[in-house]
Amino acid sequence: MTESFTPKNIIVTGGCGFIGSDFVHYVVNNHPDVHVTVLDALTYAGNLENIKPLLGDQVEFVHGNICDAQLLDELVPGHDAIVHYAAESHNDNSIADPEPFLKTNVEGTFRLIEAARKYDVRFHHVSTDEVYGDLALDDPAKFTEETPYRPSSPYSSTKASSDLLVRAWFRTYGLRMTISNCSNNYGPYQHVEKFIPRQITNIIEGIRPKLYGDGLNVRDWIHTEDHSSAVWTILTQGRLGETYLIGANGERNNLTVLKDILRVMGQPEDAFDWVKDRPGHDRRYAIDSTKLQTELGWRPTHTNFESGLRQTVQWYVDNPQWWEPAKAATEAKYKAQGQ
Ligand code: NAD
Ligand code: TYD
Repeated sequence: MTESFTPKNIIVTGGCGFIGSDFVHYVVNNHPDVHVTVLDALTYAGNLENIKPLLGDQVEFVHGNICDAQLLDELVPGHDAIVHYAAESHNDNSIADPEPFLKTNVEGTFRLIEAARKYDVRFHHVSTDEVYGDLALDDPAKFTEETPYRPSSPYSSTKASSDLLVRAWFRTYGLRMTISNCSNNYGPYQHVEKFIPRQITNIIEGIRPKLYGDGLNVRDWIHTEDHSSAVWTILTQGRLGETYLIGANGERNNLTVLKDILRVMGQPEDAFDWVKDRPGHDRRYAIDSTKLQTELGWRPTHTNFESGLRQTVQWYVDNPQWWEPAKAATEAKYKAQGQ
């Protein structure tokens, strides 16, 4: 039995980031009767430009930190749901400096669920499949909602910690919550530190793309727009206390993805550099989204990776003003790490 929830006034944390801003666009495009308050600290990863055209009667922006309990006391009352995207989201950064990950991902989530409990607001927690650790390349298994938690990196362990807090708040306090764990997202507006946009913008700038290790690590790619429709489905129809895995059968190894990018951008397929591997690098992620598909009827729409990739490449070609300001500093950081 699915339940039905009709939100009217939601807070979206991290709504100026890659995936959170896509969700705000999704709500505006599909649910014009729902008011959205975006709460975002505008870290290096947040960009108000991502939602600027939407600001007005339906979408309001509040510049603030999810760790700020006093701000949450002022902001949360009157809203009927919090959809929580805000996070430190990049594995390589978490290896270089884990502390901000503890602060935002663990303490920030704690502050939000305390506020949600206090003001009896529904809570949807956006998480990652990386909480499950990794799978072997030759393992036929995929992650399911029953897979034990086994995170590998500072990033994934802080996301796992936040998931466990949310689950405990359901069991102990009856927090009205759902959790989603999604696989790797791609699409426009992704920060140039991440794999796909890093390589696209490297090629545009005449820098050779960089592949970690042996390039055979597998990620299960899903377009951001499919992630957004899945989160909306879970928020409005998901059963309280439940976890749903989000994925679109997009398993590909990094070498294949890089060759796809090189081909789409008219480059020779060997025009890249092998670089130092990431410490603790997860080998393979793969999602079984049967529960979401059978229980809630969700389906992905971007089922052709190559056409989604072409659209993404075109977006970075067309929007250098969006990514250029972050590019040089990102590459300098990678260079210092030997990557
Ligand atoms: P992102 O790094 O692009 O954006 C994060 C956003 O959160 C930014 O706008 C940033 O300013 C904001 N933020 C960070 N710390 C904050 C704080 N303390 N207070 C308020 N705002 C803060 O991240 P993303 O890739 O869009 O990921 C969003 C969520 O989705 C994260 O929770 C991430 O764990 C999860 N997720 C990401 C992926 C992926 O492939 N990127 C996959 C599955 C799940
Ligand atoms: P990333 O986008 O950082 O996502 P995640 O670590 O959450 O999976 O990396 C995706 C994959 O690409 C991962 O296996 C690491 C690899 N990678 C490279 O080979 N080169 C790069 O320059 C980057 C940033 C990542």
